[in-house]
Amino acid sequence: MAKDNVIAVLGTGIMGAAMARNLISAGMEVRVWNRSREKAEPLGDDGAQVVDSPAEAADGAGFVLTMLADADAVAESVGAQDGALSTLPGDGVWLQMSTVGLEGQERLARVAEEHDAAYVDAPVLGTRQPAEQGQLIVLASGPEEVRGRCEPVFDAVGARTLWLGEAGAGSSLKLVTNNWIVGLLGTLAETVALSEAIGVDPSQFLQAIEGGPLGVPYAQMKGQMMIEEEFPTSFSAKLARKDAGLVLAAAEANGLRLPLTEAVAAHFDEAINAGHGEDDMAAIYQAAKPGRS
Ligand SMILES: NC(=O)c1ccc[n+]([C@@H]2O[C@H](COP(=O)([O-])OP(=O)(O)OC[C@H]3O[C@@H](n4cnc5c(N)ncnc54)[C@H](OP(=O)(O)O)[C@@H]3O)[C@@H](O)[C@H]2O)c1
Repeated sequence: MAKDNVIAVLGTGIMGAAMARNLISAGMEVRVWNRSREKAEPLGDDGAQVVDSPAEAADGAGFVLTMLADADAVAESVGAQDGALSTLPGDGVWLQMSTVGLEGQERLARVAEEHDAAYVDAPVLGTRQPAEQGQLIVLASGPEEVRGRCEPVFDAVGARTLWLGEAGAGSSLKLVTNNWIVGLLGTLAETVALSEAIGVDPSQFLQAIEGGPLGVPYAQMKGQMMIEEEFPTSFSAKLARKDAGLVLAAAEANGLRLPLTEAVAAHFDEAINAGHGEDDMAAIYQAAKPGRS
């Protein structure tokens, strides 16, 4: 029988660690597993139980929450022989919150079906700081009968939960918002580069748009990083490139070309090849700035 106050969090990267801490603060019993155990260890001091396998984490739990880099990592941690679904009780629920795209989401839904597990597709909007503050937006989708049980978990990690329909609807909306983010970032990088190239102080550009309809807070945040060329990671360039790829794959599968997103993806590739994969996604600027080789 699943215990709904027990949750297995698989993946303690930037997002997973912050979410686990908020679940602990909300009074849940949290077990954490991470491929590199040392990254999960600090959560032990916050009250989590650090375990050695996904199966150990999910044993008797009410929920398994996956927050890993991509669909391959999720499928392995959940569906492998010693994966979380091998021990999650029959009435437990899998909350899949990583960004995995359309094909990845369908693949993971099949893994859930093979294990006869309740599956909720629930990627999130928001980055490091909103994750730390429990202010994510949860794009939830999945069976109606488990929604009520999921709410305390989603309330602990997020400011709002949008229930969007059957599993898969969350990942679809996540892709749409990701295209917006990726495009915004690419345009911002080229705008800062243009300012520099024609002798305009890019801070003046940020001042000019601030507070008006053009001045999205995101531009201020990421634009400042570009101007200073300092990229402390909230969301890595490597994972942002993964997301651009997921958008392009979904568009192509549905007969749509997105030349702007293709161009931004190429900028990401250039920045990553220059060694900025682990830097914040704002490091895309390194592929746009004047005088780059
Ligand atoms: N950061 C954001 O702003 C943000 C916002 C919304 C959604 N997301 C999505 O949330 C997910 C996590 O992002 P994050 O920023 O927390 O990433 P992160 O800090 O880079 O953490 C990635 C996690 O995935 C694990 N991982 C990677 N490859 C693996 C593999 N092959 N097998 C097992 N584990 C593997 C890592 O384990 P190790 O520690 O062993 O490497 C780590 O736990 C991603 O899907 C991302 O797209 C991120």
